[in-house]
Amino acid sequence: MCGIVGYVGEKQALSLLLDSLEKLEYRGYDSAGVALIGADGIKVRKTSGYLSALRELTKDAEDLQGTVGMGHTRWATHGEPTDVNSHPHLSSSGRVAVVHNGIIENYAELRTFLMGRGYTFQSETDTEIVAQLIDSCYRGDPLAAVQEAVSELEGSFALGILFEDYPWQMIAVRKDSPLIVGLGEGENFIASDIPALIKHTRNILRLGEREVAVIGRDCVTVFDSRGERVSHEPQRVEWDIDSAERGGYEHFMLKEIMEQGTAISKTIKSRLVGDEIALELKNITPEVLRKIDKVYIVACGSAFHAGVIGKLLIQQMTGLNVTADLASEFRYSYPSLDENTLCIIISQSGETIDTLFALREAKRLGAHTISIVNVVGSAIANESEDVLYTHAGPEIAVATTKAYNTQLAVLYLLAMHMASVRGMLDPNERKRLVASLRALPVQVDALLTNRAQVQHLASLYFNHRDIFFIGRNLDYALALEGSLKLKEISYIHSEAYAAGELKHGTISLIEKGTLVIALCTGSRLLEKMVSNIREVRARGAQVISIAQEGAPLVEEASDHVIWLPKSDAFTVPSLSVIPLQLFAYFVAALKGCNIDKPRNLAKSVTVE
Ligand code: G6P
Repeated sequence: MCGIVGYVGEKQALSLLLDSLEKLEYRGYDSAGVALIGADGIKVRKTSGYLSALRELTKDAEDLQGTVGMGHTRWATHGEPTDVNSHPHLSSSGRVAVVHNGIIENYAELRTFLMGRGYTFQSETDTEIVAQLIDSCYRGDPLAAVQEAVSELEGSFALGILFEDYPWQMIAVRKDSPLIVGLGEGENFIASDIPALIKHTRNILRLGEREVAVIGRDCVTVFDSRGERVSHEPQRVEWDIDSAERGGYEHFMLKEIMEQGTAISKTIKSRLVGDEIALELKNITPEVLRKIDKVYIVACGSAFHAGVIGKLLIQQMTGLNVTADLASEFRYSYPSLDENTLCIIISQSGETIDTLFALREAKRLGAHTISIVNVVGSAIANESEDVLYTHAGPEIAVATTKAYNTQLAVLYLLAMHMASVRGMLDPNERKRLVASLRALPVQVDALLTNRAQVQHLASLYFNHRDIFFIGRNLDYALALEGSLKLKEISYIHSEAYAAGELKHGTISLIEKGTLVIALCTGSRLLEKMVSNIREVRARGAQVISIAQEGAPLVEEASDHVIWLPKSDAFTVPSLSVIPLQLFAYFVAALKGCNIDKPRNLAKSVTVE
């Protein structure tokens, strides 16, 4: 959740660190700080609030000279987002500085132990304990001190560490939280994620679990937890540098919404060969898929909502029993998994800790695992049996849009592939579905050119206090996503309901003027949906319906209709989500919200 950057080189580090931190603010923005080593020791500046506050604080800081340093942007866990709780944290002696992403679970125990040894604490954070612990283990050898301290830590951590006695180097170590090393010419870097580095280098190393890197200007040495040297093949990042910039849009979220046609196209293109589906599954062979008797789809947030759509499609097309589960619940629900279970793990970042731990649990129980991930080489991608990458490119806005839509695209492909190998999809039907997938990017682009209607509707309803989303079957899964999008960025209270369930309680919340957004894209359940719309309108609700062109009855039953181009029931979720994303975006914009960095949230959640 927090963002870490570090630099060892020849350039003045401060402005480089601030610029790199800006690219990681999506990971947390409660506070920010930097530590640099100069001629007279380690200097720290930190402050609560956005990075802009740190820029202001360090503007005229002449003592922050130095070519080795590290920075941090925080999503608070232990302790409020105050100046003193901000990172970096210094040990009491001032000779060790630490930035941290993750949670130290045994911090209370370690704190008591360190207090017994005379250490005192300034902050309420778990990170300060790490700085003091490393200090207590330090007897002149930084690597040995870090290794000894880390062996005492429980929980998750990515750490950047500076030692005053070694002003030419930085140490990095990780467990369950991401950290990459960027390799430059006469300079090296660390960062939580690629956008922070891409301006400086495209060559990266991904540190493995509990690996420690000693980073100098000209050399990076990596050790495993036993202190043995390990060699990593550097990975080349092929991202387009502009994809991590706003490119003329006011917000990343709008830019990313607009990129969805291209992202879907990149995701499906190489996987459609003639009328066939060609998935790069190396281990989950057709033989394995034929033996599967149960499927779990596990994810968090929007990725879970994509999973609900995957569940309905895979269940319908293969006849298999499919469960969609929240990753944070899955591990604790005694799931019944064995070698005939397929567990599909979905994660944009590939590092959400609940999802990562769910994957490990599924493997422990013997299930086969396929992950659907956007970030290449991330922990979830690396640890699953097979990975199907979404090719959404970097997604910066906290509220996901294009990554969600590419997750749907991969789920369509996977559902078709599973149905084909299990003999449940006849060639003609497959041909028809492939054609509708191929048509999707153009339909998405066409829908995106027509934003004015959604913007107008947002202007009519942006000051409502409660907004309900209803739908049935696939449309219910979309209602979940539409409601989440709205509440996370506009802070309007919103709920999603299966339309048929509304009358079992929630309809009592409908009063004169309540806005209900009704998804009615499925023809199979259209008449029932129209009845549900009538039920809420009879109680005073105003209804915006989203329907496919030509759908009967919807117009007369609703106050407004957003028409989608006619498309196959199978692919329509990729279209229906677009007005939902745009509605949330325009409402949040009208309310003056910080759209790309909504309060209390972070894009990548690396704590349980
Ligand atoms: C956070 C984000 C959500 C995202 C969820 C899962 O809560 O704010 O937008 O859907 O994490 O993230 P993942 O990277 O695993 O898809």
